[in-house]
Amino acid sequence: MCKDEKTIKELIIGRRVGFYKVRGEIGYGTFSRVKLAFHALTKDKVALKILDRTRLDAQTQQLLSREISSMECLQHPNVVRLYEVVETPSRLFLVLEYAGGGDLHNRICSEGKLCDNTSKITFAQILSAVKYMHNLNIIHRDLKAENVLFTSDGCVKVADFGFSTRVASRGSALDTFCGSPPYAAPELFRDDSYLGPPVDVWAMGVLLFFMVTGTMPFRADTMGKLRRCIMEASYTIPPWVPGPCQRLIRGILKPLAAERYAVDQMLGCDWLLPVEFPWALAPPEPPGPLQSLLE
Ligand code: ADE
Repeated sequence: MCKDEKTIKELIIGRRVGFYKVRGEIGYGTFSRVKLAFHALTKDKVALKILDRTRLDAQTQQLLSREISSMECLQHPNVVRLYEVVETPSRLFLVLEYAGGGDLHNRICSEGKLCDNTSKITFAQILSAVKYMHNLNIIHRDLKAENVLFTSDGCVKVADFGFSTRVASRGSALDTFCGSPPYAAPELFRDDSYLGPPVDVWAMGVLLFFMVTGTMPFRADTMGKLRRCIMEASYTIPPWVPGPCQRLIRGILKPLAAERYAVDQMLGCDWLLPVEFPWALAPPEPPGPLQSLLE
């Protein structure tokens, strides 16, 4: 028996995928489900993203291979790590770092809004992740509160690179509308615009506004009205938001990408200056000696 056949046989035995014991569902998407799983030997928890290969059209397959290639090169304490990809003829399993502390959207909804200090610490970690991925020419393109997860000890993990892509250089345009409309940058609605890292910066402005106020900056009952609000950058920051945070939001939510803050300007802003980075530890190691066991 060749190694590939043996590997496939070992992959799914009952509710096991490779060396992982599969437990209950913890999330789902259009083409995927996410389940909690445990490494059989180390008992480490992982999140298993399961895709039915027979249901994937060509475009979804392309997005999936981009997701995998983006995640394979990302190792950062604030980015969900992809430990390995397990394939069977009908299914694909992404073995992901588990973030068991819920997501930012649910947290804001249950707490109303985040206090200034929690917002700072959360935003600084998202910023650290985005700076890292942009340095590797990877754009997330779907930054939103649902894709910002927390570990059980409160560390931020940016997740879901399903719309991510690589940009070769500043001149290379991306042409696809990705992500969630309330987080979409104005240039996504304009023709002939460069769609690059500033689309992530804009989404971070929307995230920051949502964290500190508990409401979204751009809301409308139709797509047309939402589009107009975003293109005109028409939003109102409540007066009780601290001045330095207001200035940061205004520096980010600029309709023209060229005038928008760059990542380094965000890092140097007054609002974030007191923040230290105690979470900047090495990313976790994969949960078990899986590779050597498979050989
Ligand atoms: N839901 C989706 N991805 C997840 C992850 N990595 N950890 C926990 N829950 C998730």
